[in-house]
Amino acid sequence: MSNKTTLVTGGSRSGKSRHALEMSQLYKRKYFLATAQPLDEEMQERINRHQAERGQDWVTLEEPLNVTEILEENANQYEVLVLDCVTLWLSNLIMKGADREAILSKLHSFIAACKKSQGHIIVITNELGSGIIPMEASVRSFRDVAGEANQILAAEFDEVVNMVSGIPVVIKSPDQGNNDKLKLADSEHEFSPQKKQGLYEAIYKRRDIRHFNSKKIDPATLGRVLDAAHHAGSVGYMQPWNFMIIDDPQIKSKVAGNFKKANEQAAQKFSDERQDLYNSLKLEGIEDAAINICVTCDRNRFGPNVLGRNTVVDTDIFSTCCAVQNLWLAARAEGLAVGWVSILSYDQLKEDLDIPDHVQPVAYLCIGHTEAFYKKPMLETKGWAKRLPVEKLISYNKWEGQPENFKVLFEKDLSK
Ligand SMILES: Cc1cc2nc3c(=O)[nH]c(=O)nc-3n(C[C@H](O)[C@H](O)[C@H](O)COP(=O)(O)O)c2cc1C
Repeated sequence: MSNKTTLVTGGSRSGKSRHALEMSQLYKRKYFLATAQPLDEEMQERINRHQAERGQDWVTLEEPLNVTEILEENANQYEVLVLDCVTLWLSNLIMKGADREAILSKLHSFIAACKKSQGHIIVITNELGSGIIPMEASVRSFRDVAGEANQILAAEFDEVVNMVSGIPVVIKSPDQGNNDKLKLADSEHEFSPQKKQGLYEAIYKRRDIRHFNSKKIDPATLGRVLDAAHHAGSVGYMQPWNFMIIDDPQIKSKVAGNFKKANEQAAQKFSDERQDLYNSLKLEGIEDAAINICVTCDRNRFGPNVLGRNTVVDTDIFSTCCAVQNLWLAARAEGLAVGWVSILSYDQLKEDLDIPDHVQPVAYLCIGHTEAFYKKPMLETKGWAKRLPVEKLISYNKWEGQPENFKVLFEKDLSK
């Protein structure tokens, strides 16, 4: 879990809530703490709309006044908690008769609780001070205390994002430590936080899918996905791949027959309980997926002497796998589901698809739309295998070598 505090500020309708939800997508246990009270129809409608936008995987808590208590009570529950919003919280406190001192004292307790929290706290606030100076003294003092609260939160929180017309402008970031540098977009080397998040999200939310619905694939979307595949790295810039698009039901049916036979043979390799579990798994979606793509590797492309391939001849196959991974990630970002089927006789596949001898099938992919992307690898959900801890797969300087000067840190090390 990441212990981090983020303040999202901006004018009304600047995209603050949307951005806070986008930032939360990487987390599993998501809590939303709403301070709004449905005092009239318009407010109720707004609350309903925001609830619908968040979707099922959020726990929503409503508390107009005692937000610190709620934060502390649920401390072990959430990985991310979004408080929407400070301005309404302060306004609720004022309505209950709290003065500036009482409000600031409550704010400091809230900040202390945020800092103690194990999760990522995202607090939404409003920039109220940019408009015309209010005529009424009570409104002016509300504006003043809201401005003061924002300044305190911004100084104390790790990260501050200013929403301007829907665009997040990071005005303070955790590694920066102060707000003297405006970080508007990508630096020369690094992507903006939003773009980084998009990339990581594609990686973490990519899944091998075996359940497809009948929705057709947009050819232009597939074009973008295949061009992304074609931009993979390749040994000696060999680009050894070809992509065979298969939409003919008869060919799909032949490949499905090939799978069936290979799968029966594969099942025999496992004994008893494991075999029963194996047989219960759905390991392909060949005939259901709108399209199948056979990604192949031309082992003779550019002749026998390819830069970088003299020592390890299989680097052309490795390159083709890089193209498949690009395809898989781009497809996920586009909302297309991909399932890789390797339980096939490749000799049979070559025969059925008229693939010449010097060309090697690398990946047989099922591509289409799905009702739902699995949240976890299906083999994990079904109890076949678990993700290994990444730190157990890292060594230093020699096989199983321990760190001496440099040690990699993971998210969980940072939150200790
Ligand atoms: C080279 C390769 C071959 C695979 N072959 C199959 C297969 O024949 N059938 C299947 O259901 N999944 C297949 N998969 C998918 C893996 O089971 C899946 O990637 C793994 O369980 C992790 O799940 P995830 O991709 O959803 O993260 C294959 C994946 C790779 C990379």
